Amino acid sequence: MTIEINQISELRKKFDLKLKSINDTKELNDLRVEFLGKKGSVTLLLKSLGKLSPDQRPVFGSAVNNLRLEIETSINKKYEELRLLELDREEKSQRIDVTLPSRSKTYGGVHPVSQVTFEVIEIFKGMGFSVALGPEIEEDFYNFEALNIPPHHPARDMQDTFYFKDGRLLRTHTSPVEVRAMRALGAPIRVIVPGKVYRRDSDPTHSPMFHQLEGLLLDEDISIADLKGCLDVMLDTFFGRQLKKRYRASYFPFTEPSLELDIECVACSGKDPKCRICKGSGWLEISGLGMTHPNVIRAGGIDPERYNGFAWGMGLDRLAMLKYGLNDLRILFDGNLSYLLSGRDC
Ligand code: DAH
Repeated sequence: MTIEINQISELRKKFDLKLKSINDTKELNDLRVEFLGKKGSVTLLLKSLGKLSPDQRPVFGSAVNNLRLEIETSINKKYEELRLLELDREEKSQRIDVTLPSRSKTYGGVHPVSQVTFEVIEIFKGMGFSVALGPEIEEDFYNFEALNIPPHHPARDMQDTFYFKDGRLLRTHTSPVEVRAMRALGAPIRVIVPGKVYRRDSDPTHSPMFHQLEGLLLDEDISIADLKGCLDVMLDTFFGRQLKKRYRASYFPFTEPSLELDIECVACSGKDPKCRICKGSGWLEISGLGMTHPNVIRAGGIDPERYNGFAWGMGLDRLAMLKYGLNDLRILFDGNLSYLLSGRDC
């Protein structure tokens, strides 16, 4: 067997030519295998050296070895070049444009009604009230009877009630918790009751589920002036300024006397005859209230001869609407995230 010396130079030429057309490290690796791999052309040439005659071996041996070394060196050099180019390309394709707007994150927010509830609780806490809660599925007794509304009392018509088959109902107001709290805590007592209530009502200003805040204070020698002071302080603190108020005579079976409280319109202060919030009247109804009826105090297990006091019930949704300038109550409950998450503190 013989090796032609030009066989070696042919191989070198072939390699040089192929190397020129290589564009990436993968192609380069294929080229390495083609020439230096187990079955590569240079490897095969090296293997065949053994079959040469002893006088040919040194000459061709060193020539083939040189070829192998040169190819190795060229490949390594090319590899470094290609790697740099590839890194450059990668970097360019993955470059971050810091001027692009970032992806916005949406955070959960506290619902306006919850925010208002927390605020009002804080204000009443400052006046010594604690929070009492009661069941939303209520017994007829607590919702009506204990509140001086007997089965045939016409006041039951005031509230269109959701009844269960077993006679229980979805409470129509937070007032039943007054009686539950009296029975649980006795007198003297100062409680507020925030919570959901239910009525068969649905229009822009009524939702079948809404929120009320009940209040009850019983002690010795309580007067209507205490009641007035308490609600005046709460409303001025909540709205952040001293508002005009008017107390009108009203009727509720569970209070005697009964009143209703209006505040000056927080949107127009009575100056806009076309105001959408107060409909031009200048006043907003904010709460029912009164001196707790002796029958109710008695139903709560407390002696009305010794203790007297007052109660009120106001709409928390209405307070939220006024605070945030809404004219449709339903927006609070229809789950529109873009409204619910917009611009309020978490
Ligand atoms: N429970 C009444 C309602 O839902 C509101 C109310 C009026 C509560 C007078 C009271 C009160 O405690 O004294 O319409």
